[in-house]
Amino acid sequence: GPLDVGPQYVMAIDQGTTSTRAIVFDHAGAIVSTGQLEHRQILPRAGWVEHDPHEIWANTRRVVGEALTRADITRLQIAAVGITNQRETTVVWNRHTGEPVYNAIVWQDTRTQHQVDALAADGGVDRFQFKTGLPLATYFSATKIAWILDNVEGARERAEAGDLLFGTTDSWLLWHLTGGTGGGLHATDVTNASRTLLMDLDTLEWDEELLAAFGVPRAMMPEIRSSSELYGTVGGHSLLTGVPIAGILGDQQAATFGQAAFEKGESKNTYGTGNFIIVGTGTERVASKHGLITTVAYRLDGQPPRYALEGSIAVTGSLVQWVRDNLGMIASAAEIEPLAAAVKDNGGAYIVPAFSGLFAPYWRPDARGAVVGLTQFVTKEHLARAVLEATAFQTRDVIQAVEADTGVTVPELRVDGGMTVNSLLMQFQADMLGVDVVRPVIVETTALGAAYAAGLAVGFWSSLDELKGQWREDARWSPMMPRDEAERLYRNWRKAVKRTLDWVD
Ligand code: G3P
Repeated sequence: GPLDVGPQYVMAIDQGTTSTRAIVFDHAGAIVSTGQLEHRQILPRAGWVEHDPHEIWANTRRVVGEALTRADITRLQIAAVGITNQRETTVVWNRHTGEPVYNAIVWQDTRTQHQVDALAADGGVDRFQFKTGLPLATYFSATKIAWILDNVEGARERAEAGDLLFGTTDSWLLWHLTGGTGGGLHATDVTNASRTLLMDLDTLEWDEELLAAFGVPRAMMPEIRSSSELYGTVGGHSLLTGVPIAGILGDQQAATFGQAAFEKGESKNTYGTGNFIIVGTGTERVASKHGLITTVAYRLDGQPPRYALEGSIAVTGSLVQWVRDNLGMIASAAEIEPLAAAVKDNGGAYIVPAFSGLFAPYWRPDARGAVVGLTQFVTKEHLARAVLEATAFQTRDVIQAVEADTGVTVPELRVDGGMTVNSLLMQFQADMLGVDVVRPVIVETTALGAAYAAGLAVGFWSSLDELKGQWREDARWSPMMPRDEAERLYRNWRKAVKRTLDWVD
C-alpha cells in the first residue's frame, strides 16, 4: 500500500496560549513523539496579556527539532505539516523585515473594552452578530489590531501603505515557515478568520463594512483559505525544508476535527487554559439566542464550509495555574487533584474565575472573580475542590445554552485536553451534567485535528470516514451523584455567578 513507499508521518504544530508543541503522528493517528516549550506570559498591567512573537517562532523551530530527534526521523518521512493555534491572538509585523511592531495581544486581553463600549453604544453588542456570528467583545481580534495601529507610533500610516501585516499566530508561523523576511506566504484559514469580527460568515471574505467600522486597513489582512489544502512548502534551510504545509485550523476547531466530530450534532469539550465547547451545525449557520457564538467548524478544499455553535469559557485550567502561581497553594498543577480529593465536597465554597469578565453564555465584561460561601470551616482542600468544580459548573452553563439553542439534548460529552487526566473533575462533570463523559485514547485532539487536515490534503488519509474509524474510547464516567444534590450545587453556583456581575462600573 501507500505506506510502504511514501513518508509515514504527519507533523502538527500546536501554537497554544501557554506553550508551543510539535507532535509527530503515524498513520493510525498514534503519537510518535512530542516537543514542547512554554513561552512567557507578559502581563504589563491588570487585564493586559501579551506574548513575544519572536519567542513563539524560536520555540516553534526548537520543538520541531525535538520532535524529529525523539522520533529519530527526518523531514523526508513527514508527508505534511498542519498548523493549529490559539485563536484571536493578534500579531502585526513589518512585511519587509519580519519585525513585529508590538507584542502579540492575547485573546484574554481586555485593554480594548472602551473601544468595544464605544462601538456598542451605536447598535448594542450584537450589532455585528448577523454577519460575523460574534458579539462585540475584547476577545476577538478586530479591536486588538486597531489598538496596535492607534498606539504604536506611525503604525496606522504604515499599515495603510501596505507595509504591515496582520495575522493570528497560524499566519505568523506560516509566513515564517514559507520564507520569512519579505518572502513568506500571508494567509490564514476560515476558522481563524471567523474569530476576528472582520469576516462575513456567508462569503468567507473580509468585509469592507466591518474593516471600516473597526478601522482596519484591508492591505494588512491575510488571504483566507480553506482548512485543508496545500498552502505552500517549508522554505529556506530548515529541518522541514520542502515539506508541504497542508492544514490550518484554530485550536478549538482542530480539537473538534481530531475528535472526528465532523457531523451536525456532534460535539466536544476541550479542557485547556479555558474550556471550549463546540457543536457542529452542518452546512447551516445557526444564530444563538442563548449566548453562544456562531463559528466556522472547518472547510475542506473545494467544499462548502461546516458551521458550529461554540461556548467559549475563558478561565478553567488557567485557574489551576493561578492557584499555583499567584497563591502558591500547590507546587504543580497535578497537585490540585489529591488536594481536592482529601475532602468529600466543597464545604460550601464556590469560586467564579471571572478574570477576563465572563465569556459564554454570559458575555459580561463587567464581572470580576469571586470566592463566595466562606465560613471558618472552609479549608484549602475545599478551595481546591471549588477550583475544579468551577470548570464543571461553567461547562454546564454552556451545555444548557446549547440545548436551549438547538432544542436537542446532548446525549453524552466527548472530552479532551490536559485536564481530562483529572478523574475527580471528570466524575464531577458527569454528575453535574447528568450524562456520561467520554474520553478518547488520544487526548491531544487539537494537534491530531491539524494533522488530520494536513494529511487529508496530501492524500495521506483518504476520507473523513477513514478518520472516524480511528476514534477509540479510552475512559467513561457515568453520573453517580443523586440528581437533587447536583441541582442544589448548581443553583448555588448560579447564585455565586450573580455576585460577580456589575463589579466594574
Ligand atoms: O479562543 C482561545 C482559544 O483558542 C485558546 O485555546 O488551548 O490555547 O487555551 P488554548
